[in-house]
Amino acid sequence: MNIEKGYIDAEIPDGIDLKSEIRKMCIEKNAVILAHFYQKGDVQDIADFVGDSLDLSRKAAETDADVIVFAGVKFMAETAKVLSPEKTVLLPDLNAGCSLADSCLPSDFKAFTESHPDHLVITYVNTTAAIKALSNICCTSTNAVAVVESLPVDQKIIFAPDKNLGNYINGLTGRNMLLWDGACHVHEEFSLERILLMKKEFPEAKIICHPECQKPVQIVSDFIGSTSALLKYVQDDATQTYIVATESGILHQMRKNVPLKMFLPAPPNDSTCACNDCEYMKLNTLEKLYNCMKYMAPEIILTDDLRFKAEIPIRRMLEID
Ligand code: 13P
Ligand code: SF4
Repeated sequence: MNIEKGYIDAEIPDGIDLKSEIRKMCIEKNAVILAHFYQKGDVQDIADFVGDSLDLSRKAAETDADVIVFAGVKFMAETAKVLSPEKTVLLPDLNAGCSLADSCLPSDFKAFTESHPDHLVITYVNTTAAIKALSNICCTSTNAVAVVESLPVDQKIIFAPDKNLGNYINGLTGRNMLLWDGACHVHEEFSLERILLMKKEFPEAKIICHPECQKPVQIVSDFIGSTSALLKYVQDDATQTYIVATESGILHQMRKNVPLKMFLPAPPNDSTCACNDCEYMKLNTLEKLYNCMKYMAPEIILTDDLRFKAEIPIRRMLEID
């Protein structure tokens, strides 16, 4: 089957119930669907497990399924392959990249780390396997503080690729990590000015954001956390209205888990764009999921050398908490 476009572009038979066919294939092929909170609502709803990037990597390491279908982006599927090399790992659309991962290229990063030989390297999981292979330990936004604090206080550290998360963690831990100059195009797009205007309109609302947002947005936020931390916060907190500064997919879980509360997507700088959507995350659709399971492609393939090198920092991270 041709995957020139990065996904299987086969026609879907007329009149089939995509959701039940996908679930049927999960049983027939002993497959598990892992979906990130930023996926489209219908993709999240069909998954066996929906979670943040840390939970998803744990699930990928633990599952006894033969096939992992990753409804997320490529770095997440690569992490699953690194942790479960004997399994078939499928990604419905190989074009599902990540602007943050793209902001850190292996040749530049290698030169950067070599120019600071006394520093240990912590990389956020939002990196390619090639960058992980150049790292000492990985982290996600859920466990970044624990990972940093697992190293001696006087240890010099390079943190990459997200400078906003890095700055935030520096503030929480009192460290002075050297930061790579990378960022996510979705989280950098939120407009402080328009968020404050929204707050004027909804004075009772709490502002919550992901640490990939820029510092001014973090400063006005009542709570800052990873996708799973944001979700937990809105469930546990007594407030009824939230201005949510992260990718729009999380709103699906928030509305599902606390249907009586109001969730307002934080406005981006450009009011005409769908900037709250990560266009990479949103490439996955039920149609592509169906075709990818039917034809068992596209598959994530990594060389043994890359896999062995990338596994070390990921396993170190998973051992921490
Ligand atoms: P989480 O680790 O909070 O799930 O975030 C992943 C991500 O891609 C943020 O943009
Ligand atoms: Fe990458 Fe940003 Fe999309 Fe997350 S939201 S996957 S960091 S581009």
